Amino acid sequence: MPLWIPPVLAFLAGSIPFGLLIAKAKGVNIREHGSGNIGATNVLRVVGKPYGIGCLILDLLKGLIPTLIGISLIRYAGSSNPMAIDALKPYAVELPILNAQILQILTGLAAIIGHNYSPWIGFKGGKGIATSGGVLIALMPAAVVILVLIWLILFFTTKYVSVASIGAALCLPILTIGGSAFHGKLADGTWNKPLFVFSIVVALMAVWRHRSNIVALKNGTENKFSKKKKK
Ligand code: G3P
Repeated sequence: MPLWIPPVLAFLAGSIPFGLLIAKAKGVNIREHGSGNIGATNVLRVVGKPYGIGCLILDLLKGLIPTLIGISLIRYAGSSNPMAIDALKPYAVELPILNAQILQILTGLAAIIGHNYSPWIGFKGGKGIATSGGVLIALMPAAVVILVLIWLILFFTTKYVSVASIGAALCLPILTIGGSAFHGKLADGTWNKPLFVFSIVVALMAVWRHRSNIVALKNGTENKFSKKKKK
């Protein structure tokens, strides 16, 4: 298998603008409503809850599936990721550990970049939280449990999705320091440093993509989540 296939596949999957397509199917140009973002939050806000949830699942899967394929096909001696798909192992390429780690991570990163800078919509794209979530489930599943808890605490205390997303993103690198108990540790107990570097890039990209939310939060104009009252 040529080694460029998993990252390219991931980029193409990530670049599918599900939010835009779902809203379009309902006759809405999502980029002209709410926050203008193509992500699940804005689809939920503008089009409705089931569509937002559908978008969340699809955006997550487009990060998860290619990254699962990547970690299954690109391996190193002693690879121990429990998320690897056994059926793909016969087709896997075994590389020196650092090369394999870097390629696995590039695959995940490609999916997130595909979502954030989709070529089909002028390289504009979304903010990458759901897609990053999918990628992280494949690369460090235990850390995702902690990140979801952090996200929920921040969301329910502030009612701002953006605060929850930015806060969880900033915690990601902390969880990978030193090969913590949550993940980021290799089978031999050493620290998976490429995963740490990756987590910093993902966190910085998430904050960068939320810069309009940060400005709105400062100005007091950020969308606060509120349950619509039933009539
Ligand atoms: O994942 C995106 C979320 O954190 C913010 O979305 O539409 O409120 O800008 P939005």
